[in-house]
Amino acid sequence: MTRRLSARAGAPGARILGFGDYRPRRIVTNEEISQRVDTDDEWIRTRVGIAERRFAGDDESVVDMSVAAAGKALATSGVLAQDIDTVIVATCTPPAPIPGLAPEVAHRLGIASAGAFDLNAACAGFCYGLASAADAIRSGSSQNALVIGAEKLTDWTDQDDRGTCIIFGDGAGAAVVTATDSPGIGPVVWGSDGEKSRAISVADRSSFMEMDGRAVYRWATTQLADSAHRACKLAGVDISDIDVFVPHQANLRIVDSMVRTLKLRDDVAVARDIVTSGNTSSASIPLALTAMIERGEVKTGDTALLLGFGAGLTFAGQVIICP
Ligand SMILES: CC(C)(COP(=O)(O)OP(=O)(O)OC[C@H]1O[C@@H](n2cnc3c(N)ncnc32)[C@H](O)[C@@H]1OP(=O)(O)O)[C@@H](O)C(=O)NCCC(=O)NCCS
Repeated sequence: MTRRLSARAGAPGARILGFGDYRPRRIVTNEEISQRVDTDDEWIRTRVGIAERRFAGDDESVVDMSVAAAGKALATSGVLAQDIDTVIVATCTPPAPIPGLAPEVAHRLGIASAGAFDLNAACAGFCYGLASAADAIRSGSSQNALVIGAEKLTDWTDQDDRGTCIIFGDGAGAAVVTATDSPGIGPVVWGSDGEKSRAISVADRSSFMEMDGRAVYRWATTQLADSAHRACKLAGVDISDIDVFVPHQANLRIVDSMVRTLKLRDDVAVARDIVTSGNTSSASIPLALTAMIERGEVKTGDTALLLGFGAGLTFAGQVIICP
């Protein structure tokens, strides 16, 4: 006889209680980069919209940055570390494949015995992690989760390759997600295109990142708008209801192109954190949102559209209610 197993009942919804970030101390300007490779401030600002980015030092590992960002998110949300039961670290730049970083992050935060795992969906990682946390809460596997996006991309970037070294930076952002009666994280729309898996890749452990910038640019500006519309529809909101737009910070021209294609309201607060942070992959969305909240550009209760996309190729988007 095939036994029928019982399922756990979860909360009706999940919502974000607070964000936190960690920006490495060292600021690297375009001028500094142009002393090493053949480029200049104007080219970088015009083509990618970056003025400066942060490079992590030896004492700023992916785990260190995760712990700092998550500690701030816990403080902001008012949730105690001991009440967290799930820790997800979205990263594509761990120093080694084993062990995963999430158990150490949980331990250093004083979170005992949490379910803890790393997730690699590259620059879409934070949105994948948020969806996984929300689904775990809705299915009853979790009550309070920490979702962290953290990267040390400089470990994997050839600082002599002007096609990539101008773009990538380091940092971490985190969110505390909790069970709630009224959903504050809409259903995710996620997907991938593995046929383009070589568009952004690291060949092996002794190689640096290689990127077909044009292919990525074309894909991001032509293929993702439909997913953003579907994320709105699944959350039961219209694109005109969106107050805040936080796409992955890959390139300022991609951000501006998406704003035009999506026909967002003129007064929508748009994340442009790339100007001072560079592209920080899975950290970029929570880094940008934390800064926007701290500057008062985003208010409690605002409706935000998040859209992560990157290597894989992968993408994921969802609508959230801002804490
Ligand atoms: C990387 C990117 C800025 C390059 O811009 P581009 O307009 O596509 O530039 P190309 O690579 O076609 O190169 C155009 C010229 O600029 C040069 N160039 C490339 N990088 C340069 C730099 N940092 N400074 C000056 N010149 C540069 C190239 O050598 C090339 O010169 P050539 O015409 O003499 O051969 C752009 O493709 C991009 O941002 N793509 C998206 C990448 C991205 O978002 N990645 C992350 C996804 S998560």
